[in-house]
Amino acid sequence: MTDNNENNENFEPKIIAFLCTWCSYAGADLAGSARIQYPTNVKIIKVMCSSRINPLFVLRAFRKGADGVLVSGCHPGDCHYLTGNYFTRRRLILFKKQLEWVGIDPNRFHMSWVSASEGQGWADVVNKVIDDVKELGPQDEMRRKVVE
Ligand code: FES
Repeated sequence: MTDNNENNENFEPKIIAFLCTWCSYAGADLAGSARIQYPTNVKIIKVMCSSRINPLFVLRAFRKGADGVLVSGCHPGDCHYLTGNYFTRRRLILFKKQLEWVGIDPNRFHMSWVSASEGQGWADVVNKVIDDVKELGPQDEMRRKVVE
């Protein structure tokens, strides 16, 4: 393994998660009330619908020090505003492809669909995101560019 991977062993990434209130936030809440364990690296920001998430929110999270960002909403077809998450999916897939242009590894950005009944699913998503971001190490590229 490289030095970078050795340094990453103790690295605890900061993850910002934008969750829609009706499905994913309720799923995260269920994980809590069912006492399903998952790491505390995730800071949750609740929005009414995933379609409310402007890509600039994600960039701002990275600029403010997030090592990874997760957007999660209702499963396609289950959005409480009918088609909101279809817009989210289209918008954020395109956005993810452009992250490299601003110096952010696209693998730092994740999207997932978690329903209100998927407490374990929420915990699984969080563990996967943290594992993936740990592999990448700390995100300094954008912070460095802002400071320079
Ligand atoms: Fe959950 Fe729209 S209300 S994605």
